[in-house]
Amino acid sequence: MAIRVAVNGYGTIGKRVADAVALQKDMKLVGVTANSYSWLTEVAQKKGYDIYSIGDQEAFKQNGIKIAGTIQDLMGKVDVIVDGAPKKIGKENLEKFYKPNRIKATFQGGEKHATAGTSFVAQCNYNEAVGKDYVRVVSCNTTGLVRTLNEINRLYGIDSVHATMIRRGADPADIYHGPINGIVPVLEMPSHHGPDVQTVLKGVEIFTTALSVSTTLMHVHSIIADLKRKPDIQEVIQRFKDAARIRVVRNAEVIRSTAQIMELAKDLGFARGDMPEICVWEEAIGIDPNGHNKLFYMQAVHQESDVVPENVDAIRAMMGEKDAQKSIRMTNEAMGIK
Ligand SMILES: NC(=O)c1ccc[n+]([C@@H]2O[C@H](COP(=O)([O-])OP(=O)(O)OC[C@H]3O[C@@H](n4cnc5c(N)ncnc54)[C@H](OP(=O)(O)O)[C@@H]3O)[C@@H](O)[C@H]2O)c1
Repeated sequence: MAIRVAVNGYGTIGKRVADAVALQKDMKLVGVTANSYSWLTEVAQKKGYDIYSIGDQEAFKQNGIKIAGTIQDLMGKVDVIVDGAPKKIGKENLEKFYKPNRIKATFQGGEKHATAGTSFVAQCNYNEAVGKDYVRVVSCNTTGLVRTLNEINRLYGIDSVHATMIRRGADPADIYHGPINGIVPVLEMPSHHGPDVQTVLKGVEIFTTALSVSTTLMHVHSIIADLKRKPDIQEVIQRFKDAARIRVVRNAEVIRSTAQIMELAKDLGFARGDMPEICVWEEAIGIDPNGHNKLFYMQAVHQESDVVPENVDAIRAMMGEKDAQKSIRMTNEAMGIK
């Protein structure tokens, strides 16, 4: 029987996960919730998704949105909820709805590790999520760091990592955040990303710093990893090429910025022009000429979509699928990801 899934919090992440779930052969999207009326509810209705209200139904009714029930009604119909609510509200939803109704839930990176108790990136620690009731898919930046560092750790062993995140100031449709001008350093050391990586890639020493810049098109990470063995550039390139959900992009093919990666994503036909794969620039993979076991690389992370396939895999793991590779393959095939 198909896994019955609903999305509570149908925003930037939630709407993408809903579409990804609807594409899976072994899952059924039972419905999505709506907090306030907007184009999002209009599109959800056009797609044929059942819509459950969180609060007052008046605005939906006035605008011709058919409401299938309340969020409480939804609770009786699903095996797993994907919580895509704004940060910190997931924790409230857990206490208010998921725990009392004994429903499994995935949470997003805006929630703390302790809310779910298990933090998740499929390629790294899928097994930890098998059979769990609550799993937190880590943030877009942490997912990006873990995906590539996990491959490097398996290949060479990591002694320590220093990474700097150049973060997009806001998502493309977000008119409330910035900066619109200026570069804003995160004035805490380390930034929260390093400790967050350690909730998934355990035992790896990592120190992160971060800055926000005035762009909406992806984050860029500059990574320096001290390794247990001397890395080989060609071997690293091949490893990234072979890994799922990592794409090697090249200066030679005129991919020189996040703007061009976003255009590539559209040209490749990804839904919404998303790029769920972490993009590593081939020409920016380097080693230390002085002979230390240092590896340098730069990668771009599409904040709105890299966590989407992770939610799908987390659902399968929580429902008991033990084979990580099988789940990753199924998710990728359905979503058209490498
Ligand atoms: N955007 C990113 O780049 C990104 C990347 C990775 C992870 N995340 C994480 O994903 C989570 C969601 O972020 P987002 O960017 O998708 O936020 P978002 O675009 O603001 O979407 C949140 C959605 O939740 C709805 N909502 C409001 N109150 C709710 C409630 N009490 N219960 C359920 N839903 C409610 C909102 O509806 P209304 O608008 O009608 O209030 C909105 O549709 C956060 O933890 C965030 O940190 C975000």
